[in-house]
Amino acid sequence: NNYALIMAGGIGSRFWPVSRTEHPKQFIDFFGIGKTLIQSTYDRFLQICPAENIFIVTNDLYVDLIKKQIPSISDNQILAEPIMRNTAPCIAYGSMKIAKLNPNAVIVVAPSDHTIANPEGFVDAINQSIDAAAKNKCLVTLGIKPNRPDTGYGYIQYADEVLPTDEVIHKVKTFTEKPNLELAQSFIQSGDFLWNAGIFIWSAKAINKAFEKHLPDMHEIFQQGNSFYNTNNELKFIANAYLQCTNISIDFGIMEKADNVYVLPADFGWSDLGTWASIYEMAEKDYVGNAVIPSDQVMMFDSSNCMVNVPSKKLVILQNLHNYIVVESNNTLLICPRSEEQNIKNVVADVKAKF
Ligand code: GDD
Ligand code: MG
Repeated sequence: NNYALIMAGGIGSRFWPVSRTEHPKQFIDFFGIGKTLIQSTYDRFLQICPAENIFIVTNDLYVDLIKKQIPSISDNQILAEPIMRNTAPCIAYGSMKIAKLNPNAVIVVAPSDHTIANPEGFVDAINQSIDAAAKNKCLVTLGIKPNRPDTGYGYIQYADEVLPTDEVIHKVKTFTEKPNLELAQSFIQSGDFLWNAGIFIWSAKAINKAFEKHLPDMHEIFQQGNSFYNTNNELKFIANAYLQCTNISIDFGIMEKADNVYVLPADFGWSDLGTWASIYEMAEKDYVGNAVIPSDQVMMFDSSNCMVNVPSKKLVILQNLHNYIVVESNNTLLICPRSEEQNIKNVVADVKAKF
């Protein structure tokens, strides 16, 4: 009864120009390991459920990329969205489609923009959560011990209360998606908060019930497709359904509101690849802190703590450059101090308007 629903429809604008609308970060091999993020995500789930139970929900634009990167996946396992409406609609759609195949399904919903250093630990945590979600009508999320007041995450405050069937899975007291800095700082100080890993485990029944309660309009929209899922008419139905959907994330739409949310504190070397800083942190570095991917075409002189990612066959020479990002893709070269990478997102709009 185990299913996976991998979400792969985001754009990853902070990784521009390497991540672009037509080729976003989940389809990139950031570490030069021969596998893109989505391929690694898919491979992790092969340890958890049969290949035919792994579904990927993405934008129309990326269906061909997915087929190319995961050739063994069948057409019915790729859910194509006509427009971007954030994560709530894609989960409503995926859950109902899977529920129609198997009403007793337990679904693991996962993003495709993470790295996991300890895959065995990941599999254990997921199996433990699947067991809990199968026995209890609850929404399980994985919680990561936070180490900084990052405002890009959801924050989970856990209670002492635990699941009757598993005493390490705690009841969630509050769920706060992307708080402001002040709030994030107070959460870190208080000590009983975890980051939401963005990986959710629940039965199809429990999540569909949660949609019915907290996003009833969206529930109604996708409920109407019940006779079309897994048939030739699914695409046509979805094209119309998405036009009626509001744009909202699962975190704001359900997780902040539901009162049957539980968290499994997990530690499997989780890292969210949201920024170049996170790639830099994970990447192999030389003794002066340069992370260079791939390394054979780059020469560094008196340079330190730089993040260089130039996949084209071009000779790159750095002289006396420190704490910089140098990244190239599609004939676009970006050079920017590492401390200012958050601003990349803002300049992209201007650049796109011009080019
Ligand atoms: N199919 C589809 N459609 N996928 C989408 C869409 C969409 O419209 N929007 C985003 N995604 C995918 C992204 O590709 C990513 O894999 C995943 O859904 C999560 O979306 P993000 O946009 O990366 O969310 P986030 O990182 O800002 O926040 C989420 O993840 C954090 C941990 O990384 C939240 O769940 C936070 O609470 C959490 O802390
Ligand atoms: Mg993310």
